[in-house]
Amino acid sequence: MLPAAEDFIREVRDIYSRVDTPEERFKEIQPHLEKLLQDEELREVSKTWPFRNEPERGYIENLLFYEDPDYGFVLNSLLKKPRESTPVHDHGHVWTMYGVLRGKERVIRYERADDGSSDEQADLKVLGEHDVEPGYIDFVRPYEIHVEHTGDEPVVGIIFRDHRVGDFLQNFYEADSGKINKTKGPVQIPYEL
Ligand SMILES: [Fe+2]
Repeated sequence: MLPAAEDFIREVRDIYSRVDTPEERFKEIQPHLEKLLQDEELREVSKTWPFRNEPERGYIENLLFYEDPDYGFVLNSLLKKPRESTPVHDHGHVWTMYGVLRGKERVIRYERADDGSSDEQADLKVLGEHDVEPGYIDFVRPYEIHVEHTGDEPVVGIIFRDHRVGDFLQNFYEADSGKINKTKGPVQIPYEL
């Protein structure tokens, strides 16, 4: 594993051993993820990673670099081609920090203007739009709704999650109608870092 990633995992394990709540853990981990996003070696090696998403047919994958045997946290990558969008989605109960390693994109955050009780239909309201660049970290708490749209260049994200995704149902939302589709989320592809 790359030395910067090894350092990151060691630091995260130390934080998990000392800090109990996800909110506090993630706040302590954030500067370490910022440091990882600055690593030149990681940026270079990321140029060999595969872009295989086909969002139009519902296929999205994450490279899975590491899953902690004791604490269950994971380190992923999400790779998006130019002019590619994720579905509008949440990550279910999982806590996430999504960091941009390469490329620029637009992140839009939503909230539900309804009472949140329906799992078939949501009234989506835009909370904010941000054009983001390398080094940006989006802190995504459970059930927070968002979408990413790339522009003219590919985007490589490094994702830290408190649990692996892909083995439970997450919400995808149809942006226009607010219809909710339950899906299993991104396919996890074990990948050597
Ligand atoms: Fe996401």
